[in-house]
Amino acid sequence: MLFNNNIHLDSISSTNNFLLSLRKNNIFSEGLYVTTDFQENGKGQMNNSWESEKKNNLLISILIEPKISINNIFDINRFVCLSIFDLLKLYDINALIKWPNDIIINNRKIAGILIENIFSNNIISHSVIGIGLNINQAKFLQYSPPATSMFLELINNFHTHQIKQQLLDIIEVRYKKLKIGYSDLNEYNNNLYLLEKSFRFMSNNKQFYGRIKTTLDNGTLVIYDESNGVEREFLNSELKYIF
Ligand code: BTN
Repeated sequence: MLFNNNIHLDSISSTNNFLLSLRKNNIFSEGLYVTTDFQENGKGQMNNSWESEKKNNLLISILIEPKISINNIFDINRFVCLSIFDLLKLYDINALIKWPNDIIINNRKIAGILIENIFSNNIISHSVIGIGLNINQAKFLQYSPPATSMFLELINNFHTHQIKQQLLDIIEVRYKKLKIGYSDLNEYNNNLYLLEKSFRFMSNNKQFYGRIKTTLDNGTLVIYDESNGVEREFLNSELKYIF
């Protein structure tokens, strides 16, 4: 078992921050993961916060040492998205991946991922993979897209501990495959949210309707812009979905 060193905290500001704060400590090595029942200041992407009721969901930060080139940074994103996708499949949930790294069911977000990397020259020495997976929470604040949980999708309560273990096992398998050169690009592309559907996006403060065509190995998103019939490429943060 790769992930065999767990620090569990009843409550913490953010599992990502806590794990990162250990970086000068000798326990900071691949296989360590931090879980908590509650985050006082859970971090989302783009400086957003992450909402999670106490003990109801999975809040986890996992440390890996990928030692891959910065050019392949999106590989980490991709295998983590697909791991959550695999996990939900175990529960008969057909999730989709909203590029770059949200997990969506029926136009609602069930999980978010926040990866924070440590670089040494052009190599990613460490990645802190933060995952928030909504499991038993039944009510959320309003978001766009709205939030959902396994409970809301399946009207059933689940053991967060068991789901955590299943997810860690899946992540281990996918991570090992990545390390031996397996490409999961097609899997990622085949399960993209809004693939080939006309949708409103915004880039550089300009809105346009477009259709997602695919993503490239480096994580670039390719969209067909319906207003001018041109294919455009985007990197993370250059593009917003307008719900
Ligand atoms: C997103 O905005 O979609 C990313 C959300 C990531 C939330 C998780 S919860 C565990 C880990 N610790 C944090 O502070 N954030 C991530």
